Amino acid sequence: MSKIKDHIEFIYQFFNKPSLVGAIMPSSKFLARNIVNFINFKRKNLVIIEYGPGTGPFTSEIVKKLKDGDKLLLIEQNKKFIENLVQKYNRYQQLTIIEGSVSNVKTILEENKIKQVDYIVSGIPFSSIPKEVTLDIMENTQSIMNNQSLFITFQYSTLKLKLFKRYFEIVSKKFILRNVPSAYIICMKKFNLKK
Ligand SMILES: C[S@@+](CC[C@H](N)C(=O)[O-])C[C@H]1O[C@@H](n2cnc3c(N)ncnc32)[C@H](O)[C@@H]1O
Repeated sequence: MSKIKDHIEFIYQFFNKPSLVGAIMPSSKFLARNIVNFINFKRKNLVIIEYGPGTGPFTSEIVKKLKDGDKLLLIEQNKKFIENLVQKYNRYQQLTIIEGSVSNVKTILEENKIKQVDYIVSGIPFSSIPKEVTLDIMENTQSIMNNQSLFITFQYSTLKLKLFKRYFEIVSKKFILRNVPSAYIICMKKFNLKK
């Protein structure tokens, strides 16, 4: 599907489910590249989970760099986006596409026999989805991470930082102007309990 078709589909889905889609346009290539820069692709047998890939701007940047033995699991709850993702990425053998909610990510990983997660890349609009869903996602995400895992998300404001800090240690916060709207990339890890 072309970029223009992706944009039209995205806008249509936004008007259909504004709070779940949370943005009127897919993320820019620039934002996507800055997100993906957090991933060390030199590591062997990488396991990356992508939350809410939408039309796949982050996915496109990730699949280019995957090696044999790496795994990328996409979790998306919108049926139309799932159809689009299957069409675009089904040929990548490292990739699994799941239709479901990331608030069930722990169960989804168990069903897919994934025991360790290196990176979680998130497109979930935490500012517009129901608070209880956000809390479920925070708890589930914490439970699938180990001390080396990174949770990388973007937000259009820093409003949710206080909530993120209840669950994770903030490793970095980067402002990205070249996106509509401009955004913050927030990279987090599990609290180091030994400190
Ligand atoms: C702001 S869009 C981001 C899409 C894409 N990552 C991007 O940056 O352009 C949010 C995406 O999260 C998906 N989403 C929202 N809540 C979700 C949930 N609980 N589980 C899975 N996907 C969800 C929406 O359907 C949408 O595709």
